[in-house]
Amino acid sequence: MTLSEVLIAFKSTHETEPILFRAPARINLIGEHTDYNDGFVMPAAVDRELFFAIAPNRKDIYELTALEMKASVSINAGLNQVPGQGWAKYFYAVLEVLHEKGLPLKTVACVFGGNIPIGSGMSSSAALTCGFAFALNDLFDWKLSRLELAKVGQAVEHRVGIKCGLMDQYAVLFGKKEQVVKLDCQQHTHEYAPLKLGDYRLVLFNSMVQHSLADSAYNDRRKSCESVLDFLNKKTGITSLKDLTIEKLVAFKSEIDSVAYQRVRYVLEENQRVLAAQKALMTGELMTLGQLMYASHEGLSNEYEVSCEELDFLVDQVRDEAGVLGARMMGGGFGGCTLNLIHADAIERIQKKLNRKYDEKFGKKPEMTEVVTADGISRV
Ligand code: GLA
Repeated sequence: MTLSEVLIAFKSTHETEPILFRAPARINLIGEHTDYNDGFVMPAAVDRELFFAIAPNRKDIYELTALEMKASVSINAGLNQVPGQGWAKYFYAVLEVLHEKGLPLKTVACVFGGNIPIGSGMSSSAALTCGFAFALNDLFDWKLSRLELAKVGQAVEHRVGIKCGLMDQYAVLFGKKEQVVKLDCQQHTHEYAPLKLGDYRLVLFNSMVQHSLADSAYNDRRKSCESVLDFLNKKTGITSLKDLTIEKLVAFKSEIDSVAYQRVRYVLEENQRVLAAQKALMTGELMTLGQLMYASHEGLSNEYEVSCEELDFLVDQVRDEAGVLGARMMGGGFGGCTLNLIHADAIERIQKKLNRKYDEKFGKKPEMTEVVTADGISRV
């Protein structure tokens, strides 16, 4: 679905001239499951987007149309009836959160559509919630900052989806072309690092699975890290895992549940990998970056235990291939896609191999998406 298709669809059902917005998907180069642990992450906005055509409608309902779903939903201005459709629940929650923040909501007509592969782990929901909140903020001139909008998106996710960190929302709002965003999730401050990949490309392979335990397992991991923090807070006074060193953690090993210990240890190691990746990007050491990606995957698979057979398979199959610098599962896990750093000349060969091998093993082909970095949400 393109921007002009969204515009045409809007004009065919509404009489006003809409304002247009775009909201990108995100990838995460490295730093997984560290965001809700006050750690570091390194995402980027990419060139898969949702487009919104939106205008005040002077009615007592919000008129929402999801072009890809071929569905329209009305939400009444009083917000007293939650819509049934999954996507509309996100819109509803955005309105609810903004209303609770005391913002003077006015009803709008909104048509949206785009080209973000749904369920691939590229955060189509952050694009949707932050894109819609950004559009309303712009339209009604509320002057919310990008950080405030990211927090609106996160609050929505906590109501509708999972108890996520701030990475996805931050990435789609603060992303910048040819840069990754190194975000400090404790301070909510960021630095950009240049993504100069030369002949290498960012390639996603979608496992085409979404395991049903994903949300509860995610919230579970979060709880288990929080329980270690609670314990260490009582013992040492630290108030954030950011203030914990591996040495300090090791000192309390015998007093911490072994699974929780392993999870927190992973988080501390992953934070170190993000810092190392930032350095590698600054000095152009792409081999090092690739190795860090593999190490991240190992940690996610064996220590944090959020990978799955399909994702492990996709990473294992590319590991020894010429032209592949690194690969790892990306996002929450239990499905979604792997992120790979592949030489442009090797992509076709790797894709063919994965199509064949994955099909032999799982009876399907992993959808491939090549992405480049893009700017964060904007008015078009
Ligand atoms: C999901 C969440 C993010 C982050 C990642 C894992 O994408 O929405 O906040 O926790 O998982 O790194």
